[in-house]
Amino acid sequence: MSENIVTMLDQAAIAQRVAELGAQITAEYKDRPLVLIVVLKGSFVFAADLARAIDLPLRIDFLGVRSYGEGTESSGVVQITQDLSRPIEGEDVIIVEDIVDTGLTVAHLVDLLRTRQPRSVKICSLLHKPARARVHVAVDYLGFTIEDKFVIGYGLDFAERYRNLPYIGVVERA
Ligand code: IMP
Ligand code: MG
Repeated sequence: MSENIVTMLDQAAIAQRVAELGAQITAEYKDRPLVLIVVLKGSFVFAADLARAIDLPLRIDFLGVRSYGEGTESSGVVQITQDLSRPIEGEDVIIVEDIVDTGLTVAHLVDLLRTRQPRSVKICSLLHKPARARVHVAVDYLGFTIEDKFVIGYGLDFAERYRNLPYIGVVERA
């Protein structure tokens, strides 16, 4: 099987948009402390760039989540594989996602985090595929709306591969 990767969003386009998101978050939270909750594994690359584009007293924590098996369809089952390292009670938090697809994962995470009584919970996602939404999710900070294609790179995987690609692409099978 040979694979051909077609670029959907190149490094420059991603960098520019991430800088804009960081500036927007910095302006909206002013000098308030903020917690970024990085949803592993897919968001690790985006979060690393986003965090450096935010000029606030920032804390970063990680939440391990598995919503897919080896395939490309959401099971709708969200498994927490690693919990936050500290409480978020009274804190302003932003969930950092790579992509909102069916919306099931992030909707579940918002519900879960609200039970811990943070001051506020917002969602930042690099990508959104509205064509596949199964629950309505308001993404507060959104990088790009994309068409219904399975994308890889910049943290996103297909069966755990391609997370290290520096751009977002689509795999085409030849
Ligand atoms: P959702 O629960 O369907 O919104 O999907 C959430 C998770 O599925 C994302 O955080 C990704 O990890 C994964 N996912 C959804 N669409 C894609 C894709 O096009 N490429 C790679 N991973 C995806
Ligand atoms: Mg993910």
